[in-house]
Amino acid sequence: MSAAQSRSPLLEVQHISQHYKLPRQRLLGPAPQVQVLDDICFNVPAGQSIGIVGESGSGKSTLARIIMALDVPSQGRVRLMGRDLHAMTPAQLQAARADFQMVFQDPYSSLDPRQRIERIVTEPMHALGERDREKMRARAEKILQRVGLTSQDLRKYPHEFSGGQRQRIAIARALMTHPRLIVADEPVSALDVTIQAQVLDLMLELKATYGISFLFISHDMAAIHHLCEDMLVMHQGKAVERGSPEKLLNEPRHAYTQALVRALPQLGQGRRRTRLQQEAAQAAVAETSSTA
Ligand SMILES: Nc1ncnc2c1ncn2[C@@H]1O[C@H](COP(=O)(O)OP(=O)(O)O)[C@@H](O)[C@H]1O
Ligand SMILES: [Mg+2]
Repeated sequence: MSAAQSRSPLLEVQHISQHYKLPRQRLLGPAPQVQVLDDICFNVPAGQSIGIVGESGSGKSTLARIIMALDVPSQGRVRLMGRDLHAMTPAQLQAARADFQMVFQDPYSSLDPRQRIERIVTEPMHALGERDREKMRARAEKILQRVGLTSQDLRKYPHEFSGGQRQRIAIARALMTHPRLIVADEPVSALDVTIQAQVLDLMLELKATYGISFLFISHDMAAIHHLCEDMLVMHQGKAVERGSPEKLLNEPRHAYTQALVRALPQLGQGRRRTRLQQEAAQAAVAETSSTA
């Protein structure tokens, strides 16, 4: 790593916009466009994490795919450790993928049902050109144990696991290449509430142990408060609010953030919440109802 790279934030999202052309309505007319992302900017320092909230359709997954270099933005840059991901050659990008991995929302469709867990979790190492099966298996065993599964599970298929276990497998796969950043797009939304808390605790442990940064897309401000130092609220493709989770819990400005804070006391039954979060949520509700 060069001196310039080591001084850079881990992730720099610079003026990202994305529009898609819709089918032409008339043969000679211009193709109408939809703007899905509008000038999104933020940085993530190494070891810190950012939470992203926003209504369905606000552009969160589109942004995640652009940051993962799975899509090319209409405008803007994404730099990871100082390197412009969308300016890389395919070979450079393939090598750089060791540093950033993704966990998807749906643990049922994100794991290939025909592959054994060993093949699934070692896939990122195969993609990097690793061919030493013993080395890959040894690492897979270690990582599987790290996420709360066993080495016997390597022989099994995805259908033999629950949703929460599948998400642990997806996290194990993401960990195989020692990533610095994990982009997690609503990773617990499809899980039962008690299982959500366990998977969140695992992510928190990984952050504390390995200094992994998360870009964590979620509807749950309490979960974001647990994991993230920074938070971004998206609305119709724009970043409408940004700040620490504490600040946004205590003084939510945008209507969507306010609605999320109001929903908090009903959410997360059985989840461990810090006293600060409970107080923040109660204070926000009291304030909203007194001004209503
Ligand atoms: N390839 C595409 N072509 C046209 N519109 C798209 C495409 N991909 C996503 N969109 C639109 O972009 C908007 C944002 O979608 P998405 O990023 O999935 O939002 P979110 O994850 O916040 O729910 C939606 O209105 C969606 O229909
Ligand atoms: Mg989405």
